[in-house]
Formats: sequence, C-alpha cells, structure tokens
Amino acid sequence: MEKYPGKKRIAVFISGRGSNLKSLIKYSRKKNSLIKIILVISNNPNAKGLKYSTNSKIKSYGIKFKSKSSFEIKSLKLLKKNNIDMLCLAGFMNILSGSFIRKFSKPILNIHPSLLPKYKGLNTHLRAIKNKDKYSGASVHKVTEKLDSGKIIYQKKVKILKKDTLKSLEKKVLKIEHLIYPKAIIKFLTSL
Ligand code: GRF
Repeated sequence: MEKYPGKKRIAVFISGRGSNLKSLIKYSRKKNSLIKIILVISNNPNAKGLKYSTNSKIKSYGIKFKSKSSFEIKSLKLLKKNNIDMLCLAGFMNILSGSFIRKFSKPILNIHPSLLPKYKGLNTHLRAIKNKDKYSGASVHKVTEKLDSGKIIYQKKVKILKKDTLKSLEKKVLKIEHLIYPKAIIKFLTSL
C-alpha cells in the first residue's frame, strides 16, 4: 500500500546553503501537505544544505559536477527510478538544458529572488538597489528552456528602505522565499 496516498513525489535540486530546502521539508512534514520529498540532489557534494535532507532521512545525492550532461544523465536516472512527479529547484545554481527539461517531462518549479520579469539571472538584489527600486521580492515560476521566464505561479514583494543594504535586502527577501515556496506549490498542484 502506498505510504503517502495522494501526495506528490517531489525531488529538490540545491547547490549550497539549502534554507529553501529546509522550508520545503518543514512544509512537507505537515499532515495535510500535498507533497512528500523523496529525493534531494546537489550538483555540489559539499553543499551545506544536504544536511537538512540527510538529517530527515531523505535520499540525498551530492553529484560531483564534471559536466552538465553527465550531471543531467545521472540525475534523470534518479528522478525516473524514484517516480518523481515534480522537481523543485531551490538555490540550484545551474541552468538545466532543454533536453533535460523535455526528457523529465514533469513540472519543474524554481524560486528566484526578484519580482520577475525584472532581474532574471544573477545579482538581483544589487541591481534592485542600484536602480533605486522601491520594491523587491521573490517569485516562484515554472521552469522552461528560457532562463527565469516560465509562467509565474506566486510572487510576493518587500519594500526596499533607504537604510537597506545588500545584506539586509537579501535577508528580507530570503524570509519571504521561505514563505512563498510552499504556497506556490499548493497553488500549482491544486490548479492542475
Ligand atoms: C535563494 O535566494 C534563491 O532564490 C537563489 O539562491 C538562494 C539560495 O538560498 N536562487 P538557499 O540555498 O535556499 O538558502
């Protein structure tokens, strides 16, 4: 008998600190959560965030990144073997190839620290501060072959204050990232 009936089988890809992974694990453990995290993969075997999944007894793999294609072949095998329904990128600092996205063929979500479509790519906070933006925020979106351009599922903004620094803004945005990723997953899964 299936141990988690109805729950979607999720994999999470990370590269480093893993604070978003931590928040997803926390949500997945709630009785009424819609997901069960089955697998965590990092493209960096030393990623600190792997401790959250190993401590939670989730199958965790740090795959040494020799090339994009070898990483993608290995991780695709793991995703298929574990019957993963959806992949969540959480601080995964690598761009998945079109071939990977097509071969996996299930939804892939990503969290991005800006109010997309503003500031795709890196250094989002620096760009927001330099441009004297009044707001920043975070977005959860579907991953497509075009970087940070898939459909936006959930977004939340934060005010940028005059006294904000790169560090304080990053901290503020990260806090809302932890809040919105589970919300975006619920919104996405209940809209299928
Ligand atoms: C987050 O700001 C995420 O949006 C970005 O990288 C950071 C990763 O943080 N892509 P963590 O590893 O989840 O703590």
